[in-house]
Amino acid sequence: MRLDKFLCEATSWSRAEAKKAIARGRVAHAGNTITDPGYKLSNDAKIALDGATLALQGPVYIALYKPEGYICATQDEVYPCVLHLIEQAHQQPLHPAGRLDVDTTGLVLLTSDGQWSHRVTSPKKHCHKVYHVELAEPICADAQAQCEAGILLHNETKPTRPAKLDILTPTQVRITLQEGKYHQVKRMFAALNNKVIKLHRASVGPVDLTGLNEGEWRYLTPAEVAAF
Ligand code: URA
Repeated sequence: MRLDKFLCEATSWSRAEAKKAIARGRVAHAGNTITDPGYKLSNDAKIALDGATLALQGPVYIALYKPEGYICATQDEVYPCVLHLIEQAHQQPLHPAGRLDVDTTGLVLLTSDGQWSHRVTSPKKHCHKVYHVELAEPICADAQAQCEAGILLHNETKPTRPAKLDILTPTQVRITLQEGKYHQVKRMFAALNNKVIKLHRASVGPVDLTGLNEGEWRYLTPAEVAAF
């Protein structure tokens, strides 16, 4: 990596600011002042700025309690985006690891690490997502068996993976999915001749919303990050 690029990634500087610091002799490698912004660094190079060693910022992992009316996109003309709720500037762009619909509330994980978000969202990884669902009609008698067996959704060729359905009241259920097809929960209950009127994601894998109010976020702990 070029020295000026390294400086931009390790600080919040623009390329011009990095070049200025280099030109002023503030940057050193192995005890030698470097004045060439294009100086090539190995991956493990130790760079000092004003005598202090710099480190590259690692990837970012965030749990956000999404309120209703926010969209899981980076830009939208109608709705505010979930990223607007995270006021802190991160050097690497964040993306949601699994989206919620605009009218769904609950846990959204955001990260700058594409491989990690793949592990969260890939059906092959069997990461459990728990949803609380309010239904328009009482749940049908064989709903648990159908969810367990897999439901063939409209426009799909394969049934859903086994899902666990807990019936809390005739119109309130908790469903645990291992995958995240487009509008999956709403489409599953539509296939059971019902309609979702409220949807909330309580947890993804080991991460839940404990300690967060609507609109709030926190960094994941290293153990949470490693659990996926
Ligand atoms: N399933 C849905 O239908 N909507 C969501 O937001 C999440 C899962």
